[in-house]
Amino acid sequence: MCGIIGYTGRSESLPVLIDGLKALEYRGYDSAGVAAAADGGLVVVKKKGRVAELEKAVAPRGFFSRCGIGHTRWATHGEPSDENSHPHCGGSGRITVVHNGIIENYLALKRELADGGVKFRSETDTEVIAHLVQKYYEGDIHKAVTAALGRLRGSYAVAALCADFSDTVIAASYHSPLIVGLSSDGTYLASDTSALCDRADVLYRMSDGETAILRPTGAEFYLDGKPVVKKAIERSWQYGGAGLGGAESFMLKEINEIPRALKKTADYYDGGFFDSERAAKTFAGVRKIFITGCGTAYHAGMTGRALIERIARIPAETDLASEFRYRKPLLRRDSLCLFISQSGETADTLAVARLSAGAGVRTACITNVPGSALAALCDFTIPTLAGAEIAVASTKAYNCQLLALYRLAFHLAYMRKRLSKSFYKENLSVLSRIPSAASAITENAYRDILPLAEKYKNGRDIYFLGRGLDYYTALEGSLKVKEISYIHCEAFAAGELKHGALALIERGTPVIALLTQGELKEKTLNSLAEAKARGAEIIGVGKTEYIADAGVFDGRLTLPDTPDLFAPLVSVIPAQLLAYYTARARGCDADKPRNLAKSVTVE
Ligand code: AGP
Repeated sequence: MCGIIGYTGRSESLPVLIDGLKALEYRGYDSAGVAAAADGGLVVVKKKGRVAELEKAVAPRGFFSRCGIGHTRWATHGEPSDENSHPHCGGSGRITVVHNGIIENYLALKRELADGGVKFRSETDTEVIAHLVQKYYEGDIHKAVTAALGRLRGSYAVAALCADFSDTVIAASYHSPLIVGLSSDGTYLASDTSALCDRADVLYRMSDGETAILRPTGAEFYLDGKPVVKKAIERSWQYGGAGLGGAESFMLKEINEIPRALKKTADYYDGGFFDSERAAKTFAGVRKIFITGCGTAYHAGMTGRALIERIARIPAETDLASEFRYRKPLLRRDSLCLFISQSGETADTLAVARLSAGAGVRTACITNVPGSALAALCDFTIPTLAGAEIAVASTKAYNCQLLALYRLAFHLAYMRKRLSKSFYKENLSVLSRIPSAASAITENAYRDILPLAEKYKNGRDIYFLGRGLDYYTALEGSLKVKEISYIHCEAFAAGELKHGALALIERGTPVIALLTQGELKEKTLNSLAEAKARGAEIIGVGKTEYIADAGVFDGRLTLPDTPDLFAPLVSVIPAQLLAYYTARARGCDADKPRNLAKSVTVE
């Protein structure tokens, strides 16, 4: 949920820190700060607001440093403010730390330290770490950090500086990601690879419980006080920080990248990815699949469950990751847990992956960051090649997650001889045409959507309806609209409307209805007629033959003629665009919506 950057080397640290924070700002943007070793001490500058505010505050300070750390915050404990911003210092002011995670026992530690005379300046859990390191510091900063971490319960990615070691950064990670990068120019630290790809030549992911000592000439890693040798992250799975490239926003850029992302991902799978021995071993004899994720990834999982049961005839369940771990699922040795996560760093999803691995269940993940913590935890990784996704609202990654799930469902069906080779190949060729269907929407739909966005921008509610596969798409469309335009939005299973939600429908209430499943069309139209009779204004989203003649619609967003089974890969795009243009019409920041962050690395 926060972004950490660190550097020690031959160059000036401040530009490296600020650039790194800009690349990581999508992880949290309530406040930002830097600390640098300079003139025998530490310079700490921190500000509420975006990195740009910090940059203005740092400029006049005029210090020079070759070693520093930085942090961009998504507030967990303590409101966004200058005082609650990171870095936080120990009592002497010669030790400072930044932190990503949640310290669950921070109040008890805070009381213990306060009883010992420590004066706290912030409401954060992180400041407790700074004072603990100060407490244990007796001349060896690595030892002091290690001792302090031994007192903590919870999750942490920590970077620490001590003025007595002006070229050294100490790092530590537990259930919160940290990447160390090496180059001839120095040694780097960051919360994810996007901030380091253009600077570091070799990247290492820190494992749970590890600490690291970063110096200009390299890094040493330790686990339980003993040196460890690390394997570098595969270069091919590292994304550079994506630039806007002239687009008006990352979200619109990423929606327009959907066709290319789908094509690149499909081409990768077409190269025999699912035919590998590793894939065979992972899925052989699986009798039930448990699919979990959060938010958008969860919605992809709902479609995935339907596809796996319908096409491969394997029982499957979908759960919110934050719920799954507490419902004591009936995991068996012939079960497989499939995790879906764009970032591969979502704490709720990682927690379930650890639980499943611990239960001896086979694990696989679908992620857009194969060098992520989730990929490191799972037996098998199905990568999506959507490219770096910077906007908080996930779009192209979602479409690619669905593609991965279609391919997995057909692969499992073919492996179990539930379909002939010709039928398998025929469906793969349909999938290969999806990117052009997506282009037909991204290139033209905005003409119909812009007026709708203008019309609904001051609305109080917008509802999405769908049945079967369309219901899962409706859920995703609803999340998109609410999370970036802040308009209240809900999705209902069309058949459920009459069981309560219909009470919400008033004259003029906007209802976006997904109609891509011919076999369910009549039933869905009946549900829409019920809403229409109560005054709803209904916009139909589907292919011409399903929405053209139905009198229930006040507007239509026509989809290209895609086989019903594959419609979810593209039927979400109008909703993604509606969300974007409605947010823009309301003057909302679609890339960095309030209260949210791209990667939710705290539970
Ligand atoms: C999606 O638009 C949201 N930003 C959010 O629900 C997101 O999907 C969720 O936090 C899961 O993220 P992940 O895919 O990186 O695990």
